[in-house]
Amino acid sequence: MPMTAEFYRQRRRKLSESMGHGSVALVPAASEKMRSNDVEYRFRQSSDFDYLCGFPEPDALCLLLPGSADSEFVLFVRPRDQERETWTGRRSGVEGAVASYGASAAFPLEELDDRVPELIKDCEAVYYSIDGAGDYNGRILGWIESLQTNRQRSGRAPSILHDLRPSIHEMRLIKSAEEIERMREAAAISCLAHEEAMRSVRPGEREYEVEARLEYAFRRRGASGPAYPSIVAGGANATILHYTENCCELEEDALLLIDAGAELECYCGDVTRTFPVAERFDGRQRAVYEIVLAAQKSAVESVRPEVTFDSVHDVALRVLVEGLVDLGILAGRVEDIVEEEGYRPFYMHRTSHWLGKDVHDVGGYREGDASRILEPGMVLTVEPGLYLAEHTDVAPQWQGIGVRIEDDVLVTENGCEVLSDAAPKEIDEIEALRRS
Ligand code: GLY
Ligand code: MN
Ligand code: MN
Repeated sequence: MPMTAEFYRQRRRKLSESMGHGSVALVPAASEKMRSNDVEYRFRQSSDFDYLCGFPEPDALCLLLPGSADSEFVLFVRPRDQERETWTGRRSGVEGAVASYGASAAFPLEELDDRVPELIKDCEAVYYSIDGAGDYNGRILGWIESLQTNRQRSGRAPSILHDLRPSIHEMRLIKSAEEIERMREAAAISCLAHEEAMRSVRPGEREYEVEARLEYAFRRRGASGPAYPSIVAGGANATILHYTENCCELEEDALLLIDAGAELECYCGDVTRTFPVAERFDGRQRAVYEIVLAAQKSAVESVRPEVTFDSVHDVALRVLVEGLVDLGILAGRVEDIVEEEGYRPFYMHRTSHWLGKDVHDVGGYREGDASRILEPGMVLTVEPGLYLAEHTDVAPQWQGIGVRIEDDVLVTENGCEVLSDAAPKEIDEIEALRRS
């Protein structure tokens, strides 16, 4: 179910209130990107633009003019054009931008240079994403410059530039009920794909065969596809954090790490599970897995309002380091190893990131010098791992083991909700699926 028009109206109203009268926000849509001669990448709308407009086409420009009677929300869009539409697909046109997307007014893109200066000439302040406006950056400055040049005669021109990102990204950090519904669904689809993989993987098949089934599992449930390139990493490939070649044969004695999430209506799932290609974990795999699982569960349990973002990492890190000491992989006092970062060869990433319309979603991780305090409506991943790569200084029996477990966690009033809870992660659940 697409978001309601009311959702977008509320977003625009809230942003407009934070800007105030006498200002304008200019928010461009994404453009199509060339992949290779005449072939484009599949189009993905800009997250900020989608958040405010829900208009799914490339190249559009949104203007928000708080308080303006007849142009509070203006869209510039690709106009209807039967010939172009025959080649590249249907367009809403200016008519559709008003009728279906609630624009107060809409114009064809080719009228930008004539109309935008006229629309913004009475505004004191212009908000736009200073490094996010892509090709529009120079153009926006050009419009302002032309108005400034005329200021002596007209007596008016915008003179204050604001970066739009902090305000819109702070809004995006706290998810509304409608957004949470999408994220639950994106996580649920991701979990079903992981569970199907746990049931179906067989020794001797290639990582890309598993990747293909994951993506089929996403698409057939209505997701637009993977939210990021799926990582299907057998054996030592799991010790490469962003392994996406997905080309190797799965060995019976290996673990398989899958980091794959579905994207639904521009909302992302981001889920990692690790399981044996055989029916059971062997002793060493189990030992490493149990440490990561304990770290992950402790960190998830710590998620609630009023704790800091960094504290979730600290909880996971401590359990990981204790485990590495117990296995004899690291030696010394846990506090000293944490302090001196002696764990870094085996755990080199942070435990969490914000999740939303972007996989690594927007919103500040710090407020001044302090780590961000968690609030209801924030969604973060919890994804500790251990990577005992072949090049690290670790006894041969551990080399080539990589484990990560990743869930998507919503901060609630009283604690948290694990959106990706349906993907099995307990050892006996996983082994039961592997035997099935
Ligand atoms: N899948 C990307 C990440 O986990 O951050
Ligand atoms: Mn992640
Ligand atoms: Mn991930």
